[in-house]
Amino acid sequence: MAKFIVPKEIYHGLGSLENVKELKGKKAVIVIGGSSVKKNGSLQRTRDLLKEVNIESVVFEGVEADPSIATVLTGAQFFTQEQPDVIIGLGGCSAIDAAKAMWVYYEYPDSKLEELAQPFAVKPLRNKAIFVAIPTTSGTGTEITGLAVITDTEKGTKYPIVSHELTPDVAIVDGKLCKSMPAHVTANTGLDALSHAVEAYVSNIADRYNDALAKHATDLIFKYLPTAVNEPENEEARQSMHDASSMAGMAFTNVWLGIVHSMSHQLGGTFGIPHGCANAILMPNVIRFNSQVTDKYNELAALFGKTNAEELAQEIAVLRSKVGTISTIKEYGIDEKGWAEKIDLLAENALKDPCTLFNPRKPKLEEIKAIYQACYEGLKVNF
Ligand SMILES: NC(=O)c1ccc[n+]([C@@H]2O[C@H](COP(=O)([O-])OP(=O)(O)OC[C@H]3O[C@@H](n4cnc5c(N)ncnc54)[C@H](O)[C@@H]3O)[C@@H](O)[C@H]2O)c1
Ligand SMILES: [Zn+2]
Repeated sequence: MAKFIVPKEIYHGLGSLENVKELKGKKAVIVIGGSSVKKNGSLQRTRDLLKEVNIESVVFEGVEADPSIATVLTGAQFFTQEQPDVIIGLGGCSAIDAAKAMWVYYEYPDSKLEELAQPFAVKPLRNKAIFVAIPTTSGTGTEITGLAVITDTEKGTKYPIVSHELTPDVAIVDGKLCKSMPAHVTANTGLDALSHAVEAYVSNIADRYNDALAKHATDLIFKYLPTAVNEPENEEARQSMHDASSMAGMAFTNVWLGIVHSMSHQLGGTFGIPHGCANAILMPNVIRFNSQVTDKYNELAALFGKTNAEELAQEIAVLRSKVGTISTIKEYGIDEKGWAEKIDLLAENALKDPCTLFNPRKPKLEEIKAIYQACYEGLKVNF
């Protein structure tokens, strides 16, 4: 038996931002990051549409990349002052995740971040407001997932808050909003979506509902990511990537991820390697490692007329270079001494990461280290 949880309403397709008019409420707070949603007109369009249905709107702006708890608390105070019954996260995942956490603090002002990061810690939401997610990057799938990642900058720790309470009520997946996304953000976020699809597909709790979504998302990303990177105005590619990111999000919010994410979280936290870029470096070798215990990669390889896991690993390496991201950890500018000092701790922390629990093959510490080392140097693992 299993349960499948996604937002109640998902509007998708080019121009689907218009469905803001379907929202019900009196007052909305729109949470945004920097200036991109002002420049591409999506903030003004959202406010105009809200006005058409008599929903007043105010804006909380200035959410930084990798949002901090300080920003979340400032936003929650703003919510308390404004008393919205609709919260809209509009922008990249950073803006949407910050809005999710502000929502928790708005409803439960005495919350503590370390406690929220514990399993099942988020209390029932929707007492004061509903949550609407309108993403402008195609990667994390936060418009679908019961997840928000918040950083305590003083402690230097990223806290994932995991709860289906955080699953948005409404997601609006409009590829037009992504046309202004720079090529490197498109590439990194798209590779992140690919890693969600591939890891969810082989999760040790995978089921056929999530398999269908993960497999189709994989297919869409291989077909459309290079075009989205090279032709930013191509609406078909933008919508396909946006759909793929949401579909991969549906799969992974239900069946979780594996050691690509466990290992990538450490590379992001320690060296600042962008998440999707780190995932794409790790994926081929993790596929080689896991393929000793699962045949499911062969089904993904069949999407391009290939038959086995090694061919899938190679296709990912080709895609990675087509979209212009690096292929080894070393290329990020990490010298051998700095790497040798950190690899033991990286491996220990990766082993403890919650995503490791859902990997199809249970790794040993030495195996994680060997995968890291091979990915540092650009070698293939073989065990
Ligand atoms: N909630 C989840 O499910 C989940 C999963 C994985 C990672 N995360 C978190 O997500 C965050 C990263 O989110 P992200 O990858 O979406 O990046 P982001 O939100 O940090 O945005 C990256 C940059 O792109 C800009 N940008 C976004 N959309 C744009 C557009 N359409 N046009 C022009 N510029 C645009 C932003 O202003 C920002 O400068 C991290 O904090 C990470 O830890 C969350
Ligand atoms: Zn990810």
